[in-house]
Amino acid sequence: MSNLDIDWSAAWDLDPDVRFLNHGSFGACPRVVMEEQVRLRAELEREPVLFMARRLEGYLDEAREALANFVGADSSDLVFVPNASTGVNAVLRSLAFEAGDELLVTNHGYNACSNAARFVCERAGAAVTVADIPFPLQSEQQVLDAVLAKVTPRTRLLLIDHITSPTGLVLPIARIVRELRERGVETLVDGAHAPGMLELNIEAIGAAYYTGNCHKWLCTPKGSALLHVRKDLQESVRPTVISHGANSPRAGRSRFQVEFDWVGTDDPTAFLVIPTAIEFFNSLVDGGWPTIWDRHKCQALAARELLCDALDVPAPSPPEMIGALASVPLPPGDQGAPSGAWDVDPSQRVLFEMHAIEVPIMSWPAPPGRLLRVSAQLYNTMQPYRDLAQLLPLE
Ligand SMILES: Cc1ncc(COP(=O)(O)O)c(C=O)c1O
Repeated sequence: MSNLDIDWSAAWDLDPDVRFLNHGSFGACPRVVMEEQVRLRAELEREPVLFMARRLEGYLDEAREALANFVGADSSDLVFVPNASTGVNAVLRSLAFEAGDELLVTNHGYNACSNAARFVCERAGAAVTVADIPFPLQSEQQVLDAVLAKVTPRTRLLLIDHITSPTGLVLPIARIVRELRERGVETLVDGAHAPGMLELNIEAIGAAYYTGNCHKWLCTPKGSALLHVRKDLQESVRPTVISHGANSPRAGRSRFQVEFDWVGTDDPTAFLVIPTAIEFFNSLVDGGWPTIWDRHKCQALAARELLCDALDVPAPSPPEMIGALASVPLPPGDQGAPSGAWDVDPSQRVLFEMHAIEVPIMSWPAPPGRLLRVSAQLYNTMQPYRDLAQLLPLE
């Protein structure tokens, strides 16, 4: 039996009546990790001052060390944030854009983060410029060409996804960062999907700023993400919430970590269970994380092939651009622009309500264009993708 048909779903508490093919939106946390969070919350509530004021800093350091090893970073360059949106906002809102500056984004970017880019630019009289990456596409080079075509002497920063959300592409991020740096432009990488989806080496990518969620593919509880800032830039990056750290006399650690480690009272346990998640998955699967990354990719590619065959369309991107997400173009819908972030395509509703298949259909690049995106995670076997393929093409 191929490991694509090994069923690891018993590690999760997902609803057994739903064929859950949308890990990409919010992740899903396995039971062992949730139990560790419950244990930590009990410890917190038993003596809140002991936990928050005396133990937390050490606990955060332990979690940070484990995460740094996992994502290829030096722990002194890493802070926790609740989500990638917060990481992107912290960086963008710390930078002083000036009138005439350009902030380059791409047409595959995540709407919430592009909104943050528009917000800081409008405030400063700067401009958001957009690189048009084609989709379908045949090579990574097309991504690079599209981005470089929009770099001008006024480009201050590139905000780009490591793995794109609607199109599910793994972008050649290290190459992009390098080429931009050679042109004097720094990059903020939105790696919302990267930690846990694929082997990640943040230092090797070399971006000025890198943020990524742990609550998606590392399967930690919601509200756990990282922000990595290159050492020479840490002084200038401030949390979106200014708190005690701003004038703390604490010596022996950077202002960067002191500020981000306390942004007001909140539940820090989602950060603290990161080491549990890293170790749990490593021992769950023979071969540990490398086998998991390989399985994600093989399953996403196999699922994509089923969907493309059913739709009679060619694969929309080369296999090296696939991680654990695969998007395929659907025939145009008759729905207008979505009325909000959670507005759902009528076919997506039918798939869920009539067939108990949870899978997103996104309007892209604009209505009536649509993409169907599947996720591959250890709790998925191949059968639900076959079931989905049988229902294609959708209205
Ligand atoms: C590329 C990308 N960036 C940012 C986000 C936002 O993540 P969060 O809501 O955890 O901040 C997402 C969420 O799906 C995403 O796909």
